[in-house]
Amino acid sequence: MEEVKIGLLGFGTVGTGVFELLEKNRELIKERIGLVPVIKKILVRDLKKSRNTQVNPELFTTSFEEILEDPEISIVCELIGGISPAKDYVLRALQKGKEVVTANKAILAEYGDEIWGEALKNGRFLGFEASVGGGIPIIKTLREALIGNEIKSIVGIVNGTTNYILTKMLEENMDFREALKEAQKKGYAEADPTLDINGMDAAHKIAILASLSFGSFIKSSQVYVEGIEDIDLMDLTFAKNFGYIIKLLAYAIKQKNYIEVRVHPTLIPENHVLASIRLNYNAFYLTGDFVGDVLLYGLGAGKEPTASAVVSDIITAIEFSYFRKKPFIKYPLTFSQKSYKIRSMDEVEFKYYFRFSALDKPGVLSKISGVLGKYNISIASVVQIGRQKKKQAVPIVMLTHEAKEKNVAKALEEIDNLEVVSAPTKKYRIMDF
Ligand code: NAP
Ligand code: HSE
Repeated sequence: MEEVKIGLLGFGTVGTGVFELLEKNRELIKERIGLVPVIKKILVRDLKKSRNTQVNPELFTTSFEEILEDPEISIVCELIGGISPAKDYVLRALQKGKEVVTANKAILAEYGDEIWGEALKNGRFLGFEASVGGGIPIIKTLREALIGNEIKSIVGIVNGTTNYILTKMLEENMDFREALKEAQKKGYAEADPTLDINGMDAAHKIAILASLSFGSFIKSSQVYVEGIEDIDLMDLTFAKNFGYIIKLLAYAIKQKNYIEVRVHPTLIPENHVLASIRLNYNAFYLTGDFVGDVLLYGLGAGKEPTASAVVSDIITAIEFSYFRKKPFIKYPLTFSQKSYKIRSMDEVEFKYYFRFSALDKPGVLSKISGVLGKYNISIASVVQIGRQKKKQAVPIVMLTHEAKEKNVAKALEEIDNLEVVSAPTKKYRIMDF
């Protein structure tokens, strides 16, 4: 049976998974497509590194050119990560006439216009299913299943590492650093895990989804981002007592004249489906004008689920190259000339959770609520934990009604300067479904 030769760039968590899937399910794929995808070469950094997966050592190379110049290799699969040299390899592979599959959200969220443009110019397939949501077919859902819909909004848990950390902290009292270490060990985290915890990985992903959904290239630098690096078990617990679970949510919302793209920790009502997404699972809650609400749920990070997404793109790339389809607007993606105003965060209104650290003495609450009142922020409920010792700061937790972000920033600046307040106020937004 005819073989289709693939060049793999990278043999880490995802590269190994792709290799193992193609080995294990070779017969099944052969039966389904009548062709055999075969990995001919694997680019790595270090030839001496010991690998857990059994591979013919002759497949490994440290020369990208060896893969690029091999006329037999029709599909290049970039699983290195980061910007350089990954972006350069993807562009050169497209220019050389190879179909390209990548799991790299960073290059697409920062240079997507250039990369998608290059794929279009050369009439090549560019698959990026694994760049968002691990094994969940969110990209194919948007590119194919929902192509007839105007997408109104996508709200999701799009980072497995941070969801794993938040779950372990709340459910097992695990320390943040320990939970992160576990996520790294399990292969969920980025090579630089700062990108996970500071929200940038989620920003890359929501930028890609917003670009796809709204038809205008949105860069990750346009996304408002807050991560979970300052998250405190105390806030996870207080939120739970109020009936909320804190998750790192990513939002892409289209209104008539503007779009909102943002990533930040959010309090979700405990009974909402997104509150039940645990560990390295991801979920996308999207709304289209005809389909209505759709929920996609699955494993958002890790070797096997991500390999599943990459192989799905490899098969589409084979179909594309084998039958040499004409580049259709969705293959590869093109962008219209539409450009949207991105709504400034200052203008967005939320309900809020505040945790003040204040001295427990008469008049403190009225001072704080006086400042909130001045900025038109109305309180919905308050809990104060009693002091253990005199002059000790205590947490005062407040939930508010809707208020403008701009007003909240001004009010908290004033409150944090009060003599009775001993530490910066913690602030989280509440998702009102
Ligand atoms: P990884 O485990 O760090 O593996 C990276 C691989 O790339 C390694 O094999 C490394 O070679 C190779 N490499 C790095 N720099 C190189 C260079 N300059 N030249 C040649 N080879 C180089 O990364 P990963 O977790 O598999 O992630 C790969 C991509 O998939 C990233 O874009 C990531 O964001 C994305 N992704 C990951 C997941 C996940 O769950 N891990 C999920 C979805 C998407 P050596 O082995 O010799 O060091
Ligand atoms: N580091 C990413 C995450 C990998 O934790 O979600 C999947 O894209």
